Amino acid sequence: MTATIEIGFIGLGTMGTPMALNLLKAGTPLVVWNRSKHRSDNLAAAGARVVDHPIDVFARCRTVILMLADEQAMDAVLARGGHDFAARVCGKAIVSMGTMSPDYSRCLSDDIHAVGGVYVEAPVSGSRKPAEAGQLVAMLAGDADDVVAVRPLLAPMCRQVFECGAIPAALRMKLAVNVCLITLVTGLAEATHFAKSHNLDLTQFAAILDEGPMASDVSRIKISKLVCGDFTRQAAITDVLKNSRLVMEAARDAATSLPLMQASLALYAETEALGLGDDDMIAVIRAIEERTAGSHGKSS
Ligand SMILES: NC(=O)c1ccc[n+]([C@@H]2O[C@H](COP(=O)([O-])OP(=O)(O)OC[C@H]3O[C@@H](n4cnc5c(N)ncnc54)[C@H](OP(=O)(O)O)[C@@H]3O)[C@@H](O)[C@H]2O)c1
Repeated sequence: MTATIEIGFIGLGTMGTPMALNLLKAGTPLVVWNRSKHRSDNLAAAGARVVDHPIDVFARCRTVILMLADEQAMDAVLARGGHDFAARVCGKAIVSMGTMSPDYSRCLSDDIHAVGGVYVEAPVSGSRKPAEAGQLVAMLAGDADDVVAVRPLLAPMCRQVFECGAIPAALRMKLAVNVCLITLVTGLAEATHFAKSHNLDLTQFAAILDEGPMASDVSRIKISKLVCGDFTRQAAITDVLKNSRLVMEAARDAATSLPLMQASLALYAETEALGLGDDDMIAVIRAIEERTAGSHGKSS
């Protein structure tokens, strides 16, 4: 894998666009495709070759990075289950960086290997801002040689890469990280709701959290968004709801109880039902506010 060989990149959403831009900035020649064509404009301006169909990416590139929303998007792009699947993936290395279910990933890996392709899981921790800064943390899983071959490609997007073992170990690790992230941000939203309902000085509340022992990159970004009511998306409610469901499915498979995730899942579902699916995950505060309003209604 050298810098003169074109690399494919499919999925130019909130995460994929800054990730692909960082690859280009580092001199990686990219061939890109996105379902909604206008989202390729920034990449074209930065020097990527934009093609009209995913098949053109697979035809040109031996390595194709996918940063797609979910399993349906993956299957659509790979033409999985159709005649074109083998033609797209045979002899190719498919690197999936989105968050999918570990079971799905294991089956996909089997299917790709069965037709002579290579598959590497490379989910990432970090949302839009770390993606823009090339500061994601990647988790890799796959056959050892494939992981070694793919690892250098990720350097412009990531500050650290961890090798987790065989598929689906990277996705299992990613879900464990998500338990921490989702419950942390839900907790910040609930704490902000508490502070608001006691008419506390929210600027001071944020400053105390930022200076205190629990502060982290995530808490600083999210508390500032919560205090200003800036719901611009870094990680969408719909995506966090999807990820919460993936965590709960995996927990059920392992007969594991996750009470905080259970509560979070319900709140993200309620937030989406309020029509806030495209907003940032901090919009979960709206579902918490609704519950407060509902409990006042009951007591009056
Ligand atoms: N945002 C985060 O903080 C974050 C962090 C770590 C991991 N992740 C994971 O990374 C993945 C991408 O996240 P994101 O925030 O970038 O999501 P996003 O902004 O919603 O982008 C999703 C991408 O998938 C494409 N897509 C969706 N359905 C498709 C289909 N049926 N066929 C072809 N393409 C399809 C979208 O194309 P269109 O542009 O046409 O819609 C878009 O390029 C997800 O698995 C997410 O869980 C997200």
